Amino acid sequence: MSAQTYVAELFSLEGRVAVVTGGSSGIGRAITGALARAGASVVVVARREAELRSTVDELTAEGCRAAWVSADLSTSGGVRAGAEEAAAAFGEPDILVNCAGINLRPPMTELGEDVWDTTMAVNLKAPFLLGQRFGPGMAERGYGRIIHVTSQQAHRAFVSSGAYGVSKGGLESLTRSQAEAWSPHGVTVNSLVPGFVLTPLNAHLQSDPEKVASLAARTLIGRNGLADDFAGAAVFLAGRSSAYVTGQSLFVDGGFSAH
Ligand SMILES: NC(=O)c1ccc[n+]([C@@H]2O[C@H](COP(=O)([O-])OP(=O)(O)OC[C@H]3O[C@@H](n4cnc5c(N)ncnc54)[C@H](OP(=O)(O)O)[C@@H]3O)[C@@H](O)[C@H]2O)c1
Repeated sequence: MSAQTYVAELFSLEGRVAVVTGGSSGIGRAITGALARAGASVVVVARREAELRSTVDELTAEGCRAAWVSADLSTSGGVRAGAEEAAAAFGEPDILVNCAGINLRPPMTELGEDVWDTTMAVNLKAPFLLGQRFGPGMAERGYGRIIHVTSQQAHRAFVSSGAYGVSKGGLESLTRSQAEAWSPHGVTVNSLVPGFVLTPLNAHLQSDPEKVASLAARTLIGRNGLADDFAGAAVFLAGRSSAYVTGQSLFVDGGFSAH
């Protein structure tokens, strides 16, 4: 067997269908590209059409199969409509990546119910509803991969964790609950845990070079994360070679969490 065939047997996503929320920007866009280039047909779900279109155009120009759905995941109706549209593109998904997320960061004393509710809706309830929509079908078909993108703040408080940290802590618990429910039927559920990644999400923090340097210094590798750092881990967790990995949190953080 050639090395290429062996690697393809372990990691190819040929014939799989993936849905990636938040797949039009930052970490989600890198994951979308990785899954599509590894062979999956990928549906990208987010709100802004220009970003969705440019993500899909880049991939289709390379010969990948990709489609986009504009949906607002902050409402249950938006999630449900987006899920149906996403499934209509290439069929029911084998892989669901919940990467859409918001971090509004008000100080705790100013954290109101509106920020709390919106944060929970996008970061936690949408992944739950999408799991309810797609998880049982994956289990029935005997193969599924659900990947949530959480945060260091699921584990430790810093830079005004607030509602965001709580939502991501919940998402890691959801990872385990869904793994408990569906792993006996071939569906693995895991979380990717980023460190500080240079994306539009934290553009405000990035405007402070001292803060950026101090976050890089907290890693063992000595730099902050880049969206492409998630490509290999996502392909692994989406593919057949991760069949015995479930209910886990995989830190892709340059060692940020290791000390
Ligand atoms: N960057 C970091 O340092 C870091 C660290 C830890 C965890 N994370 C997590 O990683 C994930 C990706 O973050 P990122 O840094 O790549 O952020 P990003 O570049 O801001 O991307 C966020 C994505 O989520 C989508 N989104 C946001 N609100 C949405 C809504 N209501 N409905 C549908 N889509 C929505 C955005 O598209 P639209 O705005 O067009 O809807 C965009 O595609 C998030 O879950 C974040 O919490 C990031």
